[in-house]
Amino acid sequence: MHTLKISAIALTTALHCSGSHPPWSGSEEQCRCFPGDHCWPGHDEWQAFNNTVGGRLVATVPIGAVCHNSTFGPYDESSCAQLQSEWFFPQTHIHSSSSIMAPYFTNNSCNPFLGPNTSCTLGNLAVYAVNATSVDDIARTIAFVRRHNIRLTIRNTGHDYMGKAAGAGSLSVWTHYVNEMQIVDYNSSFYTGKALKMGAGVMNQDSFKFTHDHGLVNVGANCPTLGVAGGYTQVVTGTGQVLIATPERNQDLYWALSGGGGGTYGVVSSLTVKTYPDVATTASNLTFSPAGVDSGHYWDVVHTWIQSLPTLTASGCWAGWVLTTESFSLAPGTCPGKDREDMSRLLQPTLDKLKQYNISYNLSITEFTSFYDSYVAYNAPWNVSNAQLGGRLIPKSLIEDNSIALLDALRTLTDDFGIEVSGVTLNVSQGTSAPGGNSVTPIWRTAVFDCVLGTDYHADTVLANDMTQTYLPLLEQLTPGGGAYLNEADFQQPDYKSVFYGGNYDRLLQIKDKYDPGHIFYAITAVGSDRWYEDESRGGRLCRV
Ligand SMILES: *[C@@H]1O[C@H](CO)[C@@H](O)[C@H](O)[C@H]1NC(C)=O
Ligand SMILES: *[C@@H]1O[C@H](CO)[C@@H](O)[C@H](O)[C@H]1NC(C)=O
Ligand SMILES: *[C@@H]1O[C@H](CO)[C@@H](O)[C@H](O)[C@H]1NC(C)=O
Ligand SMILES: *[C@@H]1O[C@H](CO)[C@@H](O)[C@H](O)[C@H]1NC(C)=O
Ligand SMILES: *[C@@H]1O[C@H](CO)[C@@H](O)[C@H](O)[C@H]1NC(C)=O
Ligand SMILES: *[C@@H]1O[C@H](CO)[C@@H](O)[C@H](O)[C@H]1NC(C)=O
Ligand SMILES: *[C@@H]1O[C@H](CO)[C@@H](O)[C@H](O)[C@H]1NC(C)=O
Ligand SMILES: *[C@@H]1O[C@H](CO)[C@@H](O)[C@H](O)[C@H]1NC(C)=O
Ligand SMILES: *[C@@H]1O[C@H](CO)[C@@H](O)[C@H](O)[C@H]1NC(C)=O
Ligand SMILES: *[C@@H]1O[C@H](CO)[C@@H](O)[C@H](O)[C@H]1NC(C)=O
Ligand SMILES: *[C@@H]1O[C@H](CO)[C@@H](O)[C@H](O)[C@H]1NC(C)=O
Repeated sequence: MHTLKISAIALTTALHCSGSHPPWSGSEEQCRCFPGDHCWPGHDEWQAFNNTVGGRLVATVPIGAVCHNSTFGPYDESSCAQLQSEWFFPQTHIHSSSSIMAPYFTNNSCNPFLGPNTSCTLGNLAVYAVNATSVDDIARTIAFVRRHNIRLTIRNTGHDYMGKAAGAGSLSVWTHYVNEMQIVDYNSSFYTGKALKMGAGVMNQDSFKFTHDHGLVNVGANCPTLGVAGGYTQVVTGTGQVLIATPERNQDLYWALSGGGGGTYGVVSSLTVKTYPDVATTASNLTFSPAGVDSGHYWDVVHTWIQSLPTLTASGCWAGWVLTTESFSLAPGTCPGKDREDMSRLLQPTLDKLKQYNISYNLSITEFTSFYDSYVAYNAPWNVSNAQLGGRLIPKSLIEDNSIALLDALRTLTDDFGIEVSGVTLNVSQGTSAPGGNSVTPIWRTAVFDCVLGTDYHADTVLANDMTQTYLPLLEQLTPGGGAYLNEADFQQPDYKSVFYGGNYDRLLQIKDKYDPGHIFYAITAVGSDRWYEDESRGGRLCRV
């Protein structure tokens, strides 16, 4: 989950082509150039390019290669066992120049768990990555893909449910090491004060630690190793020119970057966000289980919990909770600027129900002197998710008018289909302002929580169609005309233009075409993505519709 407020974004753009090479213009060229094509650069050209990016070009060797005999090298039993034991730790992927975490998009092309006799190929992984550390590295990479008509992908950590950071036959800008941080005095007509300027590779846990060390706090996401500048703000494109986008400069681009989806308008090289004075914070965990409990009683407690959520968000609190067939788990509830009594009051209706039904539970509430301390104490180290997602924003009106129908849907999803249901609960309009507005789908403003559905992914079973055709429709029929958070959603979402972007799609497309006239940026479900398709009969190469 990821929300942020951006004050300024520095980026390079493809619009102002300052290089000596014309942009790709061959209308007869239907597809991006692919390895093996005669247009694919030769060894010398790649080496020359490597020199322009300071030797930072990395040829992809899938990290799973040690578990197979393949062109990448021999099977290595002990390295393979080591990799398998570390596979679900984010660091395993974050330090790789190519690995993507979402199992669906890895497509088993080099799966370390399928046995040494299965194949290991690049599949959807980039062919090369530029281990960028500067704006120049990014700009030179964009110039190179333009010159050679090569597909570009942008990747930071590899956290990416929608497959946007993956791309067969691509050259990838790897932003993980663009990671400088600085507290700056920002001065503009819309905000004057402290701000955090950070490189595109900075992760949440590092930004929180950094601002905390300066007595400040910034808005970021829950997952510690997720990039701050990803998600709703990721961008750029370009051949050498660096643009600053703020509510005052290049404001159309600023607006598009602030919610209009990653990998679409350009490559963000750095992001400056407002900081706030650090704040005393109270956090809580609550768990209970349906085991041995009358199921009507159990679901009545969950019902009470859901009905209590609008009060919780109105208090400026945030809650992450998960429902499975085995448990309800709030982990955590977080209330900046609130104390133990405030937190207890918000949980009281749910606790009363638990007591009424004599259901045992575990509850912890802790007061901290800073947001960061609560974040560290109440966040489990996150494993790489093995789930395939779908999502729907749940409006307050549904909770007020028909919470029984919502409860029935959640019950069906967990009890009948074994879906893990996550409730990412917050009011995005609370306590922050967005100068110049932003392009986040307006449906977020009506939402109490983002209901994220996760199915277990089995290496040999694709549950994607069940998500699209069976699971999500249970929530869609309760929320006609509704929306979804575009980063934790179904990549096959029908009507994604309205579901992900609300009424903003057409304006976003105009802005994309202004800053990316060569259509360098493509990502699944991104604005303008319907101009392209991945040709599975030819290795997944990207072709014009
Ligand atoms: C790029 O150059 C560096 C430094 O010479 C080298 O280590 C690296 O292997 C090169 N990358 C490729 C893809 O050849
Ligand atoms: C997290 O991943 C590690 C390493 O793959 C694994 O051993 C562990 O069981 C996982 N924990 C959870 C809660 O999934
Ligand atoms: C996975 O590979 C198969 C076989 O090449 C292809 O048909 C399929 O579309 C690919 N799926 C993804 C998600 O890349
Ligand atoms: C991998 O290749 C090595 C050497 O060619 C061979 O000894 C080994 O049996 C092969 N392993 C598998 C699983 O095919
Ligand atoms: C893997 O391939 C090798 C050599 O082709 C063969 O001897 C072995 O039985 C195979 N192993 C499995 C698990 O299929
Ligand atoms: C990427 O660059 C960083 C910073 O220079 C370096 O520490 C890291 O080893 C590089 N990684 C790869 C895979 O080249
Ligand atoms: C911000 O800029 C304005 C206009 O240049 C100036 O008057 C003001 O003093 C500046 N404020 C700070 C805090 O630097
Ligand atoms: C509540 O449950 C406990 C065991 O979980 C049991 O000992 C006790 O009698 C129950 N009390 C009531 C009022 O049902
Ligand atoms: C409460 O926590 C204890 C210790 O971790 C655990 O054994 C118990 O199952 C938990 N109870 C519930 C209802 O979650
Ligand atoms: C709260 O729950 C999370 C997730 O289970 C756990 O990692 C963390 O240690 C818990 N914190 C406290 C203080 O109970
Ligand atoms: C969110 O907070 C704003 C400002 O307090 C309020 O006007 C709005 O009704 C709230 N929205 C929801 C969905 O709770």
